[in-house]
Amino acid sequence: MSQRLRIALTKGRLQEQSVAMFESAGLDCTPIHHPGRRLIHALPNYPMDAVLAKAPDVITYVEHGVCDLGIVGKDTILEHGGSFYEVLDLGFGKCRFALAVPEGRDFYASYHSRTIASKYPEVTKRFFRDKGMDVDIIKIEGSVELAPILGLADGIVDIVETGATLKANGLTPIETVAEVSARLIVNTASMKLHKGQIEDFIARCAGETRKAP
Ligand code: PRP
Repeated sequence: MSQRLRIALTKGRLQEQSVAMFESAGLDCTPIHHPGRRLIHALPNYPMDAVLAKAPDVITYVEHGVCDLGIVGKDTILEHGGSFYEVLDLGFGKCRFALAVPEGRDFYASYHSRTIASKYPEVTKRFFRDKGMDVDIIKIEGSVELAPILGLADGIVDIVETGATLKANGLTPIETVAEVSARLIVNTASMKLHKGQIEDFIARCAGETRKAP
């Protein structure tokens, strides 16, 4: 029996590209374009309801099974972890995690202890642990580029897309920590319970991913 699936989409940067992918896969997304005050959007021509959420909440909803599927950046997956299937690299939302320091600064030159600011303390911790380097990590909630300017940190680990924000703030990326893009994730129980339906949806998304340049 066909039942409606529920998918959580990450609000903001990934939202537009997720909806564009759905539409080119033939899903009518009119309710998402005209949400009003509704928080759950029933797609008229496909048995699926969509909710929009902040990235970490997408993972929470999928892990708890209140959403069968989710679209979320690999950055959030790397930071939060969690128990779900990551079934597809959707190929959009491409950027990278980079270690960036003030221009002209030789980050590795001295043995003094270093402080790194990041919105992603877990990713930062793993990166330096793998290097065998002991650093102090300070969690910042946004505009991390400010931390070295204010003298709070020697460097930052952050998302770099075009590099414009780093450049405008006198910072330069010196190492890539990880590549990032949007991923389709699936609740483990839903994958068993609604296998056919979920496979149909994955195949539609995969078809669009192959068409992308
Ligand atoms: C991200 C990231 C950088 C910027 C990088 O911030 O934290 O600040 O984008 O993009 P660029 O390389 O193209 O300049 P976001 O816009 O998500 O806002 P936030 O700092 O409030 O998280």
